[in-house]
Amino acid sequence: MKKTILITGCSSGIGYCVAKALQERGYHVFATARRSESVDALRQDGLESFQLDLMNTDSINRAFESVMHHTNGKLYALFNNGAYGLPGAIEDLSRDALRDQFETNVLGWQELTNLAIPVMRQQGYGRIIQNSSVLGFVSLPFRGAYNATKYAIEGLSDTMRLELQGSNIYVSLIEPGPIESKFRENAVKMLEKYIDVESSIHRDRYQHVLKRLNTQGPAVPFTLPPSAVLKRVIHALETSTPRPRYYVTFPTYLLGVLKRLLSTRALDRLLVRTGGDH
Ligand SMILES: NC(=O)c1ccc[n+]([C@@H]2O[C@H](COP(=O)([O-])OP(=O)(O)OC[C@H]3O[C@@H](n4cnc5c(N)ncnc54)[C@H](OP(=O)(O)O)[C@@H]3O)[C@@H](O)[C@H]2O)c1
Repeated sequence: MKKTILITGCSSGIGYCVAKALQERGYHVFATARRSESVDALRQDGLESFQLDLMNTDSINRAFESVMHHTNGKLYALFNNGAYGLPGAIEDLSRDALRDQFETNVLGWQELTNLAIPVMRQQGYGRIIQNSSVLGFVSLPFRGAYNATKYAIEGLSDTMRLELQGSNIYVSLIEPGPIESKFRENAVKMLEKYIDVESSIHRDRYQHVLKRLNTQGPAVPFTLPPSAVLKRVIHALETSTPRPRYYVTFPTYLLGVLKRLLSTRALDRLLVRTGGDH
């Protein structure tokens, strides 16, 4: 029997890379995507795909039922991955902007996870892999909405890990720094959708944000391809002792150490200098 894995957000970037590679590795992959045209493209690419929009409970339920139908009610692993970044100063975030960010990046993930856990408990094993971020444990200016959702994922994952002790269901967080994907391109769309740049006190700084986000190729040093995340996903799936946390990229390792060593004030000074322009 092939091991089964359900992945969200497979239209591009990390989700697509992990779905393709795991299928080649012999997994039975359910590569879900938010938009129907992405589902069509994934199917044409030889992947088994269903529509799953994390903003929509019916869509989550339907996709999960379809997976259960194809697997005889079993699921080895869930890779929670689909998410977006909304750049912007916290004072510019409307309630709707924050709500949508949490609906997608947190509530949809947990709703889906809570469908998977009973199935995993029943079968007596399971892996839940959460694609968090270095921004799940350090904050940067103008990343507040996204930061808050990734901190929430870290909190939920840490608690699930405690609650699932002894169940043979493992929860792993992956914490990438910069990875090549459509993340920046999608972040520009979100900024345009949710932030009223012209009436913001930060109007000029948004021009820097947009310049960085619109830069072709790696905008920041130490950017890695999505295969760097794949490596950790494979470890979390295949080892008998999955780690609670997997760092990916040099900035994650560096900031992990600095967070432990520096005072909050000293770390703030550094983060304002490195992320203060955007
Ligand atoms: N790239 C980085 O530097 C980086 C660093 C740390 C962590 N991460 C995390 O990695 C994960 C994947 O991001 P990525 O870098 O691969 O970016 P990406 O290329 O933009 O992929 C994001 C995926 O999430 C999907 N998505 C967005 N809203 C959704 C919704 N409502 N329902 C279902 N799927 C939705 C997107 O679908 P559409 O195409 O339909 O929008 C897309 O498939 C995210 O959790 C992100 O936070 C990325």
